[in-house]
Amino acid sequence: MFYKILTYGCQMNEHESEKLSAVLDSFNFKEAAGENFDILIFNTCCIRETAEKKVFGHIGDVKKLKQKNSELIVAVIGCLPQQKGYEQKLKEKFPFIDIIIGTYNLTNFAKILSNFIKNRKYQSNVSEVFEIDSCITTANRPSKVKANVNIMYGCDNYCSYCIVPYVRGNEVSRDIKVILKEVNGLLNDDYKEITLLGQNVNSYKFEGFDFADLLNEITKINKKFFMRFLTSHPKDLSEKIVKIMSKSSNIFKSVHLPVQSGSDRILKLMNRKYTVDEYLEKIQMLKKYIPDVQITTDIIAGFPTETESDFESTLKLMEKVKFSGAFTFVYSSRSGTEASRMSGQIDYATKKNRIQKLIQLQKEITYELNAYTEGKTFEILVEDMSDNENYLLGKTIHDKKVLFLGKKNLVGEFIKVKIEKASRTALYGSLVLD
Ligand code: 5AD
Ligand code: SF4
Repeated sequence: MFYKILTYGCQMNEHESEKLSAVLDSFNFKEAAGENFDILIFNTCCIRETAEKKVFGHIGDVKKLKQKNSELIVAVIGCLPQQKGYEQKLKEKFPFIDIIIGTYNLTNFAKILSNFIKNRKYQSNVSEVFEIDSCITTANRPSKVKANVNIMYGCDNYCSYCIVPYVRGNEVSRDIKVILKEVNGLLNDDYKEITLLGQNVNSYKFEGFDFADLLNEITKINKKFFMRFLTSHPKDLSEKIVKIMSKSSNIFKSVHLPVQSGSDRILKLMNRKYTVDEYLEKIQMLKKYIPDVQITTDIIAGFPTETESDFESTLKLMEKVKFSGAFTFVYSSRSGTEASRMSGQIDYATKKNRIQKLIQLQKEITYELNAYTEGKTFEILVEDMSDNENYLLGKTIHDKKVLFLGKKNLVGEFIKVKIEKASRTALYGSLVLD
């Protein structure tokens, strides 16, 4: 039987779909190449209301498919049904759903699917106990150049706006030996870019090994490759980690360090456990060891009680740090979180107005930083063909996207490119022949 997985949300979800695909293949299911499938799986996200609405909309569209083909199996998995009361909600709204399971049930999913096929009876498994699938080491990765590797699951931080700890449980780190085996295997298979994934990679801990130790072990591998990691919590980014980054020629000179707000009052309400000054000290530390480091961030506009003056502080911080990129979000109330119970929720028009200001300012800063690269030559890893088939898509060690004319056989190679033109979203260059 053929399956199709639709994935929503973060890189973690993308990677879990890759693993699910490998699990299903081992049970003799096959991924559909086109639109002819017997099983449709929604791997869902609920981080913001927009993400949730999108999934609901797409599941709703399946009704027509199911009317045409009553044999079609529809499964909804991941973060959305893991929320309290959502299995019920989904079943009521979409009675045609055949299987609902929560997070970390990938190995179980294949068994549940086989059960469904045998007796065609609704199956579900949304348990409060998170059964971590840390033993799954195979994944159907779409790229032959870059690969995600999960190093930990869950989150202990309970930022007051965030639903993640409720749907993914507390932090659990994977065995360092299993991670190293997976990374070595990928590098032996000629992968050239490894992304270590976790909700808060900086607090990785396994039998006395911390995140810096893990990075150190990986940098000992005597091969040429790029490595990066997502996501760092500022409070846990230690000098030990930064020192190892600075010594390695493999690790990206770019760090994603979500700040969320530039107001101490709001940071406290968000339960972020750092002040603006402490955040700036982390940036200073990064710059001391890695002078050309690039910082990207996440910012939320319109957290409950955010005043114009709080918001101005965020704009000021953006000017000060000069982030190379910022993912900006309108605050979205998530049921069960502390912030959803706070008074002083901000109206949508104000939130929208504020996010537009954040986006505009960031556009100017990104363009200014990118413009510096014009005329300079960088080593890049060629990742893929671009949408325009004549162009190749690569990345510098600063995580800058580079487009240039070149032949497909360069994909997976490290080459030099001279930047001719910078735009806000990418750098355009030409191949430099040694
Ligand atoms: N509303 C808006 N943005 C949110 N994020 C997490 N939860 C919410 C929410 N309730 C953002 C944060 C986080 C990123 C992954 O998503 O900025 O860093
Ligand atoms: Fe959510 Fe905060 Fe954990 Fe990130 S660190 S996943 S924002 S609770």
